[in-house]
Amino acid sequence: MLAGRRILLIIGGGIAAYKTLELIRLLRGQGACVTPVLTRAGEEFVTPLSVSAIAGVRVYRDLFDLTDEAEMGHIELSRAADLVVVAPATADLMAKMAGGHADDLASTLLMATDKRVLIAPAMNVRMWEHPATMRNLALLEGDGILRAGPDAGEMACGEYGPGRMAEPAAIRDAVAGVLGAGPLAGRRVVVTSGPTHEPIDPVRYIANRSSGAQGAAIAAALRDLGAEVRFVTGPARVPAPAGVTVTRVETAREMLAAVDAALPADAVVCAAAVGDWRAARDAPQKMKKTDGRPPALEFVENPDILATISQRGETRPPLVIGFAAETEQVEAHATAKRMRKGCDWILANDVSAKGGAMGGPQNRVTLITAEGAEHWPQMAKSEVARRLAARIAETLG
Ligand code: C5P
Repeated sequence: MLAGRRILLIIGGGIAAYKTLELIRLLRGQGACVTPVLTRAGEEFVTPLSVSAIAGVRVYRDLFDLTDEAEMGHIELSRAADLVVVAPATADLMAKMAGGHADDLASTLLMATDKRVLIAPAMNVRMWEHPATMRNLALLEGDGILRAGPDAGEMACGEYGPGRMAEPAAIRDAVAGVLGAGPLAGRRVVVTSGPTHEPIDPVRYIANRSSGAQGAAIAAALRDLGAEVRFVTGPARVPAPAGVTVTRVETAREMLAAVDAALPADAVVCAAAVGDWRAARDAPQKMKKTDGRPPALEFVENPDILATISQRGETRPPLVIGFAAETEQVEAHATAKRMRKGCDWILANDVSAKGGAMGGPQNRVTLITAEGAEHWPQMAKSEVARRLAARIAETLG
C-alpha cells in the first residue's frame, strides 16, 4: 500500500511516544521508508537506539549536528519526504508549529518543509481543551495541517477524555489515505457543505445556522481513505479541510453549477443546508426605508441540488447521498424523502434538542437505504463521517 513512500516522522516528547515504535513497524510493514526525527523531549520517552533499530535507519536529533548538515541539510531532509508526520504532537510542539518557531531540528523541519504535514496530537485532556491549544489547533488547521485523533479515553495520567494519541493503525490508515493509497484511491467524490446566502440586495441576504462541520468532516474522512474530494461549500463557519479541492459559493444556484462542474463523480454527498427559497428580486441597490412600511419580500424556489443530481438519468453518479434534518418521526420522514428526491441513501439527523446536532460536535444519525433503516448511536461528527466514508468505500468496492 505504501511501497516506496517516504515518511519523515517527528517524535515529540509525550508518553505516547512509545506507540510510535509500533507506528514505524506498521508503516514499514506497508513498504514505507520512515526517517525518524527525535526531539530532545522525545528522547526522554524512547531511546534513539530503539527508534533506529525499528526504523532500520539512523535517527536525526540535532539541528547543529554538523555531520548531519554535511550528509543532508535540514532543508533537504524536510523535503525528501512525501509526508511529514508528527506523533505524538504535544501541546508544546503544536504551539511551536502555530507560532512558526524554528529553534530545534523538529520545528525547523516543520517550517522548512514544502510537503503536507499530519499531526497526531497527544496530551492530557485539560491541556487539549485549554483555549491556547484550541487556538493553536485552529491556526494549524487554517494552515492546512492534517490531523489524526486524538481519541477520547483513559489517559496515562489517570484522567479521562480526549487527548489520547490515535492508535498506530489509525495513524497508518490516515497516512495511506493522504498518500492516495486508501480504499477510495482513484475515486472522485463531490461533497456539498455549509449554508447558502441568498441575496436580497447588495448588503442583505437570507442565510441559515449551518456551521458546515458535518460536511467538512465527511470531506476529510473521504480524503483520508484516498478519495479525490471536490468540496463545494457555502459560507461555513468551520474551515475547509486541507487536501481537497475547494469551490466556494454563496447561493444555491452557484452551488448547483459548482457541483455540475465537479462531475462526473463516483459519489455525491449533499451535506449542505441549501436555502429552499431565495428573494424573487435581488435589488441592484440597497433597499431604502420606505414611508414607514417595511418592504414585502417575495420568494421563489431554489433548485434542489440533491434531487436534480439524483434524477439525472444516464449521467447520474452511481451513489448519491443526502441528509435530512428531522425533529420527529425521523425514520418515516427520511424514508419518504429518499423516495421523493430519488437518492440512494439518506442520513437522517435528529435535530431535536436531545439530539444536539445543530451546531454541536455530536450527531445522531439514521442511515436510510433501499434495504431499510440503520440506527447509529450518538457519536462525534468526525466518527459519523468516518463511518459514512467507510460505508461508501465498501459500496463502491
Ligand atoms: O428537503 P430538505 O432540505 O430537507 O433535504 C435535505 C437534503 O437535500 C440535504 O442533503 C440537502 O443538502 C439537500 N438539498 C439540496 N438542495 C436544496 C435543498 C436541499 O441539495 N435546494
